[in-house]
Amino acid sequence: IRDDSPAVGQYIANYIAKRINDFAPTPERPFVLGLPTGSSPLPTYKFLIQLVKDGKLSFKNVVTFNMDEYVGLPEDHPESYHTFMFRELFSHIDIPPSQVNILNGNAKDLIGECNAYEAKIKAHGGIELFLGGIGEDGHIAFNEPGSSLSSRTRIKTLAYDTILANARFFGNDISKVPRMALTVGVKTVLDSREVIVVVTGQRKALALSKAIEEGINHLWTLSALQLHPWALIVVDEDATAEL
Ligand code: GLP
Repeated sequence: IRDDSPAVGQYIANYIAKRINDFAPTPERPFVLGLPTGSSPLPTYKFLIQLVKDGKLSFKNVVTFNMDEYVGLPEDHPESYHTFMFRELFSHIDIPPSQVNILNGNAKDLIGECNAYEAKIKAHGGIELFLGGIGEDGHIAFNEPGSSLSSRTRIKTLAYDTILANARFFGNDISKVPRMALTVGVKTVLDSREVIVVVTGQRKALALSKAIEEGINHLWTLSALQLHPWALIVVDEDATAEL
């Protein structure tokens, strides 16, 4: 628990930097990092960028896999997760674009795209560290309530609550929010060697309490983390309101 969201971001950025530096990645043995979108990881990204600018961290030998992407939103749309990631992180750090992996929500064969993504993660020896955020309904990536805890990368219809929550990025017009997304599964996240989840703000307080103080439940998919041997949830004071 940290005081506020900037302190959470600083903690996580320093943590990730230490993990990458201790791993000492090389082109033959890159560090495989899973990444989320959303407002929650923004302070983390800000501090990661600073660490790179200060010469304390390099992404030259880091390979990234993003959690999810909207279906049918043009890749260059300002709210696509592709645009978001380059705007908020990748354009400001030294990662070669060829080492960035983001699901293609405009692929002709969406199921094939999801299967190829899983295969690519596997070909990289799995994800070393998956950073995630959660929705107000406790979803991790776009694993909406009711998702199987053994789910893998697939197409998911967004819950109405998620469409409402994300309408703020589409001029508060819910008709503009995509209805479907491609997302890594709960099991894809659980399969990574380490998971860090950032939960900030009172809006997430109920989800946090359901996920960590109640049983493992597919209605609050973050709760699946209780099964993980190496998981860390970093929160601010506001998010602890229901604990
Ligand atoms: C979307 C993303 C999630 C993210 C969530 C919360 O649903 N698919 O990965 O955790 O938004 O976003 P925010 O951090 O802006 O509350």
